[in-house]
Amino acid sequence: MLKIAVLASGSGTNLQSIIDNIESGNLDAKIEVVLSDKSEAFALERARKHHIDAVSIGRKSFGSKEDYEQEVAAVLKSYHVDLVVLAGYMRIVGKTILAAFSGRVMNIHPALLPAFPGLNAQDQAFQYGVKVAGCTVHFVDEGMDTGPIILQAAVPVQSGDTVDTLRQRILEQEHRIYPQAIQLFAKGRLKVEGRKVIVRN
Ligand code: GRF
Repeated sequence: MLKIAVLASGSGTNLQSIIDNIESGNLDAKIEVVLSDKSEAFALERARKHHIDAVSIGRKSFGSKEDYEQEVAAVLKSYHVDLVVLAGYMRIVGKTILAAFSGRVMNIHPALLPAFPGLNAQDQAFQYGVKVAGCTVHFVDEGMDTGPIILQAAVPVQSGDTVDTLRQRILEQEHRIYPQAIQLFAKGRLKVEGRKVIVRN
Protein backbone atom coordinates (compact mmCIF):
# COMPACT_ATOMS: atom_id res chain seq x y z
CA MET A 1 0.00 0.00 0.00
CA LEU A 2 1.37 3.40 -1.01
CA LYS A 3 2.07 5.54 2.03
CA ILE A 4 1.48 9.22 1.44
CA ALA A 5 1.83 12.50 3.29
CA VAL A 6 -0.39 15.43 2.38
CA LEU A 7 0.94 18.97 2.91
CA ALA A 8 -1.72 21.68 3.07
CA SER A 9 -1.97 25.26 4.29
CA GLY A 10 -5.68 25.92 3.96
CA SER A 11 -9.13 24.49 3.63
CA GLY A 12 -8.05 21.11 2.34
CA THR A 13 -10.82 20.23 -0.10
CA ASN A 14 -8.26 18.36 -2.21
CA LEU A 15 -7.18 16.49 0.89
CA GLN A 16 -10.84 15.63 1.46
CA SER A 17 -11.23 14.24 -2.04
CA ILE A 18 -8.13 12.07 -1.52
CA ILE A 19 -9.54 10.81 1.80
CA ASP A 20 -12.94 10.13 0.18
CA ASN A 21 -11.38 8.24 -2.73
CA ILE A 22 -9.34 6.11 -0.34
CA GLU A 23 -12.37 5.37 1.80
CA SER A 24 -14.49 4.42 -1.21
CA GLY A 25 -11.80 2.08 -2.52
CA ASN A 26 -10.88 4.08 -5.62
CA LEU A 27 -7.41 4.96 -4.41
CA ASP A 28 -5.01 2.34 -3.07
CA ALA A 29 -3.08 4.50 -0.66
CA LYS A 30 -2.90 5.35 3.00
CA ILE A 31 -2.43 8.87 4.32
CA GLU A 32 0.15 8.50 7.08
CA VAL A 33 0.22 12.15 8.05
CA VAL A 34 -1.20 15.54 7.11
CA LEU A 35 1.30 18.31 7.72
CA SER A 36 0.67 22.04 7.65
CA ASP A 37 2.71 25.19 8.09
CA LYS A 38 -0.45 26.78 9.55
CA SER A 39 -1.76 25.54 12.88
CA GLU A 40 -5.24 26.88 12.06
CA ALA A 41 -5.50 25.14 8.66
CA PHE A 42 -8.86 23.42 8.31
CA ALA A 43 -7.02 20.60 6.53
CA LEU A 44 -5.69 19.53 9.95
CA GLU A 45 -9.27 19.29 11.26
CA ARG A 46 -10.25 17.14 8.32
CA ALA A 47 -7.33 14.82 9.03
CA ARG A 48 -8.20 14.45 12.73
CA LYS A 49 -11.81 13.73 11.87
CA HIS A 50 -10.60 10.75 9.85
CA HIS A 51 -8.11 9.64 12.54
CA ILE A 52 -5.11 10.68 10.48
CA ASP A 53 -2.11 12.17 12.29
CA ALA A 54 -2.14 15.96 11.90
CA VAL A 55 1.11 17.84 12.42
CA SER A 56 1.65 21.58 12.33
CA ILE A 57 5.14 23.01 11.88
CA GLY A 58 5.33 26.80 11.75
CA ARG A 59 8.02 28.33 9.61
CA LYS A 60 8.61 31.12 12.15
CA SER A 61 10.12 28.72 14.69
CA PHE A 62 13.07 28.18 12.35
CA GLY A 63 15.88 30.53 11.42
CA SER A 64 16.20 29.48 7.81
CA LYS A 65 14.13 27.79 5.13
CA GLU A 66 16.64 24.95 5.16
CA ASP A 67 16.22 24.35 8.90
CA TYR A 68 12.44 24.40 8.47
CA GLU A 69 12.55 21.94 5.59
CA GLN A 70 14.92 19.67 7.47
CA GLU A 71 12.35 19.36 10.22
CA VAL A 72 9.51 18.78 7.74
CA ALA A 73 11.58 16.13 5.89
CA ALA A 74 12.48 14.44 9.18
CA VAL A 75 8.81 14.18 10.17
CA LEU A 76 7.87 12.82 6.73
CA LYS A 77 10.72 10.29 6.93
CA SER A 78 9.59 9.20 10.38
CA TYR A 79 6.29 8.17 8.76
CA HIS A 80 8.15 6.30 5.97
CA VAL A 81 6.07 7.95 3.28
CA ASP A 82 6.56 6.98 -0.37
CA LEU A 83 4.94 10.08 -1.87
CA VAL A 84 4.52 13.68 -0.74
CA VAL A 85 1.30 15.25 -2.01
CA LEU A 86 1.08 19.04 -1.98
CA ALA A 87 -2.54 20.13 -1.73
CA GLY A 88 -2.77 23.86 -1.31
CA TYR A 89 0.58 24.04 0.47
CA MET A 90 1.42 27.71 0.13
CA ARG A 91 5.21 27.42 0.21
CA ILE A 92 7.73 26.77 -2.48
CA VAL A 93 9.26 23.40 -1.72
CA GLY A 94 13.01 23.79 -1.66
CA LYS A 95 15.96 21.56 -2.28
CA THR A 96 16.04 20.02 1.20
CA ILE A 97 12.63 18.38 0.85
CA LEU A 98 13.17 17.63 -2.85
CA ALA A 99 16.48 15.89 -2.10
CA ALA A 100 14.82 13.77 0.59
CA PHE A 101 11.94 12.78 -1.74
CA SER A 102 13.47 12.94 -5.18
CA GLY A 103 10.83 12.35 -7.91
CA ARG A 104 8.25 11.69 -5.21
CA VAL A 105 6.62 15.08 -4.68
CA MET A 106 3.39 15.95 -6.52
CA ASN A 107 1.44 19.19 -6.73
CA ILE A 108 -1.86 20.38 -8.11
CA HIS A 109 -2.08 23.77 -9.76
CA PRO A 110 -5.36 25.47 -10.76
CA ALA A 111 -4.37 26.37 -14.32
CA LEU A 112 -3.31 24.63 -17.51
CA LEU A 113 0.45 24.85 -17.06
CA PRO A 114 2.72 26.23 -18.35
CA ALA A 115 0.16 29.06 -18.50
CA PHE A 116 -0.44 31.03 -15.32
CA PRO A 117 2.03 29.62 -12.79
CA GLY A 118 2.23 31.12 -9.31
CA LEU A 119 -0.44 32.61 -7.09
CA ASN A 120 -4.09 33.29 -7.99
CA ALA A 121 -3.86 31.28 -11.19
CA GLN A 122 -7.64 31.15 -11.72
CA ASP A 123 -7.80 34.93 -11.44
CA GLN A 124 -4.85 35.36 -13.79
CA ALA A 125 -6.54 33.13 -16.40
CA PHE A 126 -9.94 34.79 -15.98
CA GLN A 127 -8.53 38.32 -16.28
CA TYR A 128 -6.49 37.27 -19.30
CA GLY A 129 -9.71 36.23 -21.00
CA VAL A 130 -8.92 32.59 -21.75
CA LYS A 131 -11.74 30.47 -23.18
CA VAL A 132 -10.39 27.27 -21.65
CA ALA A 133 -9.06 27.19 -18.11
CA GLY A 134 -8.24 24.08 -16.08
CA CYS A 135 -5.89 22.38 -13.68
CA THR A 136 -2.66 20.40 -13.73
CA VAL A 137 -1.13 17.68 -11.57
CA HIS A 138 2.64 17.65 -11.90
CA PHE A 139 5.77 16.37 -10.27
CA VAL A 140 7.58 19.07 -8.35
CA ASP A 141 11.02 20.29 -9.32
CA GLU A 142 12.95 23.32 -8.09
CA GLY A 143 11.06 25.77 -10.30
CA MET A 144 7.72 27.44 -9.67
CA ASP A 145 5.06 25.06 -11.10
CA THR A 146 7.51 23.82 -13.74
CA GLY A 147 7.80 20.07 -13.13
CA PRO A 148 6.75 17.28 -15.53
CA ILE A 149 2.98 17.18 -16.13
CA ILE A 150 1.07 14.06 -15.06
CA LEU A 151 -2.59 14.91 -15.77
CA GLN A 152 -4.56 17.95 -16.84
CA ALA A 153 -8.26 18.75 -17.07
CA ALA A 154 -9.74 21.50 -19.21
CA VAL A 155 -12.56 23.70 -17.92
CA PRO A 156 -14.31 25.87 -20.55
CA VAL A 157 -15.02 29.43 -19.48
CA GLN A 158 -18.73 30.23 -19.78
CA SER A 159 -20.14 33.62 -20.73
CA GLY A 160 -21.70 34.30 -17.31
CA ASP A 161 -18.66 33.18 -15.34
CA THR A 162 -17.12 35.19 -12.52
CA VAL A 163 -13.75 34.24 -11.17
CA ASP A 164 -15.55 32.50 -8.29
CA THR A 165 -17.78 30.31 -10.47
CA LEU A 166 -14.77 29.44 -12.61
CA ARG A 167 -12.66 28.65 -9.53
CA GLN A 168 -15.39 26.34 -8.27
CA ARG A 169 -15.62 24.37 -11.54
CA ILE A 170 -11.83 24.10 -11.69
CA LEU A 171 -11.85 22.80 -8.11
CA GLU A 172 -14.33 20.07 -9.06
CA GLN A 173 -11.86 18.88 -11.69
CA GLU A 174 -8.98 19.08 -9.21
CA HIS A 175 -10.91 16.75 -6.93
CA ARG A 176 -11.28 14.30 -9.82
CA ILE A 177 -7.76 14.26 -11.29
CA TYR A 178 -5.59 14.47 -8.15
CA PRO A 179 -6.75 11.10 -6.76
CA GLN A 180 -6.39 9.66 -10.29
CA ALA A 181 -2.80 10.83 -10.56
CA ILE A 182 -1.95 9.41 -7.14
CA GLN A 183 -3.55 6.10 -8.14
CA LEU A 184 -1.39 6.00 -11.28
CA PHE A 185 1.68 6.54 -9.10
CA ALA A 186 0.49 3.89 -6.64
CA LYS A 187 0.20 1.37 -9.46
CA GLY A 188 3.69 2.17 -10.75
CA ARG A 189 2.26 3.46 -14.02
CA LEU A 190 4.12 6.77 -14.19
CA LYS A 191 7.50 6.99 -15.85
CA VAL A 192 9.31 10.29 -16.22
CA GLU A 193 11.35 10.74 -19.40
CA GLY A 194 12.84 14.21 -19.43
CA ARG A 195 9.93 16.64 -19.36
CA LYS A 196 7.40 13.96 -20.24
CA VAL A 197 5.46 11.69 -17.95
CA ILE A 198 4.59 8.44 -19.72
CA VAL A 199 1.45 6.72 -18.39
CA ARG A 200 2.05 3.00 -18.82
CA ASN A 201 -0.74 0.51 -19.45
C1 GRF B 1 -6.33 24.54 -5.01
O1 GRF B 1 -6.91 25.43 -5.90
C2 GRF B 1 -5.03 24.02 -5.56
O2 GRF B 1 -5.03 23.89 -6.95
C3 GRF B 1 -4.05 25.07 -5.13
O3 GRF B 1 -4.48 25.46 -3.85
C4 GRF B 1 -5.89 25.22 -3.73
C5 GRF B 1 -6.09 24.36 -2.53
O4 GRF B 1 -7.43 24.20 -2.22
N1 GRF B 1 -2.70 24.56 -5.18
P1 GRF B 1 -7.87 23.21 -1.08
O5 GRF B 1 -7.16 23.62 0.20
O6 GRF B 1 -7.50 21.81 -1.49
O7 GRF B 1 -9.35 23.39 -0.97
